[in-house]
Amino acid sequence: MMFDQYRSLTKIMLPAVEQEMQTVLQLDPQAPSDAFFGMLHYHMGWVDASLGRVAGNGGKRIRPILCLLSCQAAGGDWQAALPAGAAIELLHNFTLIHDDIEDSSPTRRGRATVWKLWGLPQAINIGDSLFALSYLALLRLSERGVPAGTVVQAIRRFGETSLHLTNGQYFDMDFETRAVVTVDEYITMIEGKTAALLSLCCELGALVAGRDADSVHHFRQFGRDLGLAFQVKDDILGIWGDEAVIGKSAATDIETRKKTLPVLYGLAQSAALRELYHRPENDPDFVTRVVALLEESGAQEFAQAQASHYSQSALNHLAATRPGAAASEALEQLAALLLERQA
Ligand code: IPE
Ligand code: IPE
Ligand code: MG
Ligand code: MG
Repeated sequence: MMFDQYRSLTKIMLPAVEQEMQTVLQLDPQAPSDAFFGMLHYHMGWVDASLGRVAGNGGKRIRPILCLLSCQAAGGDWQAALPAGAAIELLHNFTLIHDDIEDSSPTRRGRATVWKLWGLPQAINIGDSLFALSYLALLRLSERGVPAGTVVQAIRRFGETSLHLTNGQYFDMDFETRAVVTVDEYITMIEGKTAALLSLCCELGALVAGRDADSVHHFRQFGRDLGLAFQVKDDILGIWGDEAVIGKSAATDIETRKKTLPVLYGLAQSAALRELYHRPENDPDFVTRVVALLEESGAQEFAQAQASHYSQSALNHLAATRPGAAASEALEQLAALLLERQA
């Protein structure tokens, strides 16, 4: 597969998403960022730590792309869904600012995290501002001719999803100090922290396209299963990824005793890993030893197979939506790219 559809559609969509988000975040191309919005502009990858403009790395932007492609695949005009795509990406970025505090993560996208640069209190506050801005971004659906009833439904689902996400984050943190976590509990956790938002992208795309409840349901399920595959892959990269490519630490998940899927599999297979992982302290060779035991148990292969399984399940839901040709091919290509990604 050459990913032609995906590449040609995203080439048009990505600059439009960036423009929409920059308008909401009051980025003035002619003037320097002020100290308050500057922290947001930094996190979004538009300015450096001294607030000077950079081309930078603002992340993959897969959520807005999913939303816009879903809208087009559902027979709608992707430009009408731009405020929804932008709003979800802003919500995602808000959760990352707070997640980096919750996870004590010093780096994100190859740069220092907001709390590392400006301290915890400012990082919490600027995260809150981005949460508020994400709702203001969503309201702009009204300016693109989306019916008021659809806008209200989108806002309702946006709020419900935000709540679901924080519930997933609760479990993610709670599991750090729990010795035993089942695979079912893990799935409930990642369904909240990650899959709920990817699911919302596809749901809102189909909703803006004006599709019936049954089609919207399949788009929602497509995004949910893709989100599960995406998080399992993130778990793998969080252990075996190249730090220079993933732009974040490949040690903190293990140091903070995250119960990721490879770890759950390894803990079930290896008594030596159980003994080691439950020690409270981090010896200098702790991460290396954990990774070696995970590799012995075949944890990476198991997790990759699980990611493929959820990705295939996602594609089955996509097929059930009977979507339009080019955009739905692009969605299939995106699913394949996410499974093979290195970052
Ligand atoms: C990171 O999401 C958090 C997860 C849900 C795994 P992404 O991998 O989409 O992060 P960016 O936005 O591309 O940096
Ligand atoms: C992903 O959290 C979900 C959210 C940020 C809400 P993780 O902690 O698993 O993701 P990374 O590894 O920091 O990107
Ligand atoms: Mg994290
Ligand atoms: Mg986290």
